[in-house]
Amino acid sequence: MMATTVLLALAESQAENLSIFDPAAPPSQSIRTLSVLLFAITGLIFLLVEGILIYNLVRFRKTSAGTESEPPQVYGGQPIEVAWTVAPTLVVCILVLVMTRTLWEVDVTASQPKPGDHALFVTVVGRQWWWEYRYDTYNGRPLGFITANELHIPATTDSAHRPVFLNLQSADVCHSFWVPRLAGKTDLIPGQSNHMWFETRDHGLFLGQCAEYCGTQHAGMLLRVVVDTPEEFEQWLKSQLAPAHDDPDALAGKKAFLSEACVNCHRVRGTSAAGTYAPDLTHLMSRETLASGLFPNDAKNLERWVADPQQMKYGCLMPAFSFSEARRKDIVRYLTTLH
Ligand code: CUA
Repeated sequence: MMATTVLLALAESQAENLSIFDPAAPPSQSIRTLSVLLFAITGLIFLLVEGILIYNLVRFRKTSAGTESEPPQVYGGQPIEVAWTVAPTLVVCILVLVMTRTLWEVDVTASQPKPGDHALFVTVVGRQWWWEYRYDTYNGRPLGFITANELHIPATTDSAHRPVFLNLQSADVCHSFWVPRLAGKTDLIPGQSNHMWFETRDHGLFLGQCAEYCGTQHAGMLLRVVVDTPEEFEQWLKSQLAPAHDDPDALAGKKAFLSEACVNCHRVRGTSAAGTYAPDLTHLMSRETLASGLFPNDAKNLERWVADPQQMKYGCLMPAFSFSEARRKDIVRYLTTLH
């Protein structure tokens, strides 16, 4: 029990590691290398300039010079002019070159899947204030299901690279996809497709955050990337591709759900609920969190959510419906069967 608690705490603290200096994927590694180099070069220049300044302040003080008159005023000086033109030019050239290389490494066009890669392609749609994930293809296989808020990806192993290519779009305003340990920020712009990629050998949960102010719940637009082993990922794909679970015990709730306004916004594959405006609920209970990473996804929170989403995530686009308590419990009962 104790060991499990410690392990869970470790996994959680690992997930909460948002440091760009602890990269777990090639794009974020390139960015860290560039940052370290930039800090080193600019730090050196800072020390040099401040050092010369302090030296001169001390060395040429009136008192240490021992005279009341001004020191000799020298105008011009070719060697110095040449030195302070050439040195910064060289520094700028080096910076341009390393930055171009980093941009190339981070840029998706430089990182298309190579033959033999098991590449995953996902379209990410930023929405106020949650993430829609449309799984397009994996290893050439068409997928075509939609899920929300928790991005599952397979880990790269010795047997195959499993790069993930994201096609970033927005349904409303600008958002920005940022999981610091996997890659740099890339914006999601309405009416445009942006692209990013990453791959990692590390399993587990990686957290991130929408990094572009997008309205009231910008801070409540959390990102969760779950890196599965290839086997776990196959299993997860299989369960996501399956139609919604139909539990005979939840029939009353299903009927209630399908007869209410829920269906205008939400989709449950295999039923008449075909809304595309709000999260796809086909496999709602396969997600650990609710409201884009804000709450644990359990019956208690689902019931609070259905009763009044505004109490939990103020400003979110789902209104409160005045269901009777019995009807609400039926609906939540149905939702909890959607594994
Ligand atoms: Cu979406 Cu900030």
